[in-house]
Amino acid sequence: MILDPARPADAADLAVLHAAAFNPPWTAADLAQALGGPGGFGVLARTADRAAAGFILARAIAGEAEVLTLAVDPTLRRGGVGLALLVAAEGLARQNGAQAMFLEVAEDNVAALALYARAGFEAVGRRRGYYRRPGAPPVDAQVLRLDLNSRRP
Ligand SMILES: CC(C)(COP(=O)(O)OP(=O)(O)OC[C@H]1O[C@@H](n2cnc3c(N)ncnc32)[C@H](O)[C@@H]1OP(=O)(O)O)[C@@H](O)C(=O)NCCC(=O)NCCS
Repeated sequence: MILDPARPADAADLAVLHAAAFNPPWTAADLAQALGGPGGFGVLARTADRAAAGFILARAIAGEAEVLTLAVDPTLRRGGVGLALLVAAEGLARQNGAQAMFLEVAEDNVAALALYARAGFEAVGRRRGYYRRPGAPPVDAQVLRLDLNSRRP
C-alpha cells in the first residue's frame, strides 16, 4: 500500500471512492474544495498497481484538526487501509500544529466506530439527527476526540 498526499488533481479518484461508501456522495468539486479549503489536507492510499484504495480528508485550524471524510474501497476493507490513513492524517495534523483531532460518525456505523475506538478516539458528544439519508430516518452522530499529544509522533 502506497500513501501519498491527496491533491486536487486526485479529486475524480476520491469521488469514485466516496460514491462507493456514502449516500449521498460528494462530487469531485466538493472534494477538491474540501482539500483546498482553509487548513485542508488529505492522504490517498493506492495499491501497488496504483489503483485508488482509500482516502482521508481533514483540516487543521487553530490547534484543532477535524476529519472531514474517510473511505476505503469496499473490496479492500479489513486490510488495514483505513487505520493507516487515519494514522497518517494524525501525523499531518500534528505537523500542522493540532493538539486534538475531532470527527463525527453515525452511531449505526459499526465499522467506523470500531476503527476509531481502536485508534484511541473517545466520545465527547452527540448531534441529534445529524445524518439525513435519502429514504431513511435521520441518524444521530457521535462526536469523537483524539488527544494528539498522547501519542508519539
Ligand atoms: C470505516 C472504514 C474506513 C474502515 O476501513 P478499513 O480499511 O476496512 O479499516 P481497517 O482494515 O484499517 O480496520 C482497522 C480496525 O478497525 C476495526 N474495524 C474496521 N472495520 C470493521 C468492521 N466492519 N467490523 C468491526 N471492526 C472493524 C477493526 O478493529 C480493524 O482491525 P482488524 O481488522 O485487525 O480487526 C471502511 O469500512 C469504510 O470505508 N466504510 C464506509 C465509509 C465510512 O463509514 N467512513 C467513516 C465515516 S465516519
